[in-house]
Amino acid sequence: MTGLAVIILAAGEGTRMKSTTPKVLHQVAGRSLLGHAIAAAQGLEPDQIAVVVRHGREQVAAEAARHAPDAVIADQDEVPGTGRAVQCALAALDRAAAALPAADAASAGRLDRVVVICGDTPLIDSDILARLAQTHRADGNAVTLLTAVVDNPFGYGRIVRDAAGQVARIVEQVDATPEQAAINEVNASAYVLEADLLRSAIGGLTRDNNQGQVYLTDVVAAARTAGRTVRAVVAEDPAAAQGVNDRGQLAQAGAALNRRIVDQAMIDGVTVVDPASTWIDADVRLARDVTLMPGTHLAGRTSVAVGGVIGPFTTLVDTEVGQGATVDRTVARQARIGAGAEVGPFAHLRAGTVLGRATKAGAFTELKAAQVDDGAKVPHLAYVGDAAIGAGANVGAGTIFANYDGVSKSRCVIGPAARIGSNNVIVAPVEMGAGSYSGAGAVVRRDVPAGALAVSAGPQRVVEGWTSRKRPGSASALAAESALAKSEPGPSPDRQAGAAGATGATP
Ligand code: UD1
Ligand code: CA
Repeated sequence: MTGLAVIILAAGEGTRMKSTTPKVLHQVAGRSLLGHAIAAAQGLEPDQIAVVVRHGREQVAAEAARHAPDAVIADQDEVPGTGRAVQCALAALDRAAAALPAADAASAGRLDRVVVICGDTPLIDSDILARLAQTHRADGNAVTLLTAVVDNPFGYGRIVRDAAGQVARIVEQVDATPEQAAINEVNASAYVLEADLLRSAIGGLTRDNNQGQVYLTDVVAAARTAGRTVRAVVAEDPAAAQGVNDRGQLAQAGAALNRRIVDQAMIDGVTVVDPASTWIDADVRLARDVTLMPGTHLAGRTSVAVGGVIGPFTTLVDTEVGQGATVDRTVARQARIGAGAEVGPFAHLRAGTVLGRATKAGAFTELKAAQVDDGAKVPHLAYVGDAAIGAGANVGAGTIFANYDGVSKSRCVIGPAARIGSNNVIVAPVEMGAGSYSGAGAVVRRDVPAGALAVSAGPQRVVEGWTSRKRPGSASALAAESALAKSEPGPSPDRQAGAAGATGATP
């Protein structure tokens, strides 16, 4: 038991977002704003986390539970303001503690310290909060708050310091005098507070301001009046304070968070050719010596093992890339790409695709729920859906797996070292055995035993003089006639033999 609780404020409407989605459920770096706040809170390993909800209550509470199943959901009433939100959270925390079995309640009920953060400041992470909490303990403060010195303080609470340079109070934008509005040190809205001070100060807050709200920020002045110590920690990176109130700030916060993730990846040994066009979500994992080419977007739970080269212009969502694989100009979702595999350029890997070691899904290929075993190749221009391709097999250019008959989807199994000819249609469900072949243009509807050849294209028929008879006077006819005139007398033996090809001939 740490005697610590974290309160996350997420009850606001987010009017300025002009959205049907509650503000804290908008995403940056692949996570909701609330998800970022909860991750920051969890990093402190508090006894309890309370999430204050009101607008979009069910959705917000569900998202909170998804990230933190044990979180206390605190309902805010109709009284508006961040201070009211904290009052409601304290009451809910006390109720939750009282509901625990007697033994746990004794320790859980002992709330020494409270961290308050907002659900709309996704750059405040657990490192920042840990430093804030450490300063708080080391200095023996009653309130320690995070501030930032920014170029454009508009919209934020301003930090008013006294003659001695100590934080005297916080003044909100709408309540600020012109002199106060000119202050560019702003409140980042992350606080560590002694529980006794918070409990006593919060009860005395009024709605005496231009918004008629109960402001949490007024706790600062109340603490000073009570003779307690209030200290500010100025954020090293002013971007940490970036709050999200509108779509412009959503984009700014997303860009700042991305920059932080990309910088950390480079510190960890990833080559990022163009940081400005590289987007990496918060839950992505990258090993050393991965190279990210320009225009790469790694989303969700994507991971790339040592030496992988991703991009340019590639989007991977929830995709696992093995050691040394290359993925060029590709879109992949929920796919696994084996070590040494070559993907793209211009490949589309859809959900459930698993590429083994040293496989290939080349130019203009689309794969869905396809298992491609080690060394097998789909080099170009193919659709492989709902199929297992055996080790070392090859799928010819232009081949389509017809997995859907308009009613249901079926699966195909291609044996190891089988070779599918060019421009085949593999009509599911069908199996081709180990080492089997199919001819160019084959439509494979029946199973092909191991080592057998399947052909379905008939022998080629050549109809001499067709163009001049059927398209007289056309450019084609004129070209044919002039060619024929030069090669008189008679047709060449080549043309008579036709091009049925070895695998196209009838046995
Ligand atoms: C708040 C601070 C401001 C600070 C800024 C930093 C106050 C009064 N102001 O202003 O000093 O610079 O954050 O980003 O605290 N919320 C509730 N219940 C409410 C109102 C808000 O839970 O009744 C939640 C919101 O969902 C949001 C957070 O509190 O996550 C902040 O509310 P918001 O209205 O965005 O405050 P700001 O005007 O940004
Ligand atoms: Ca805000």
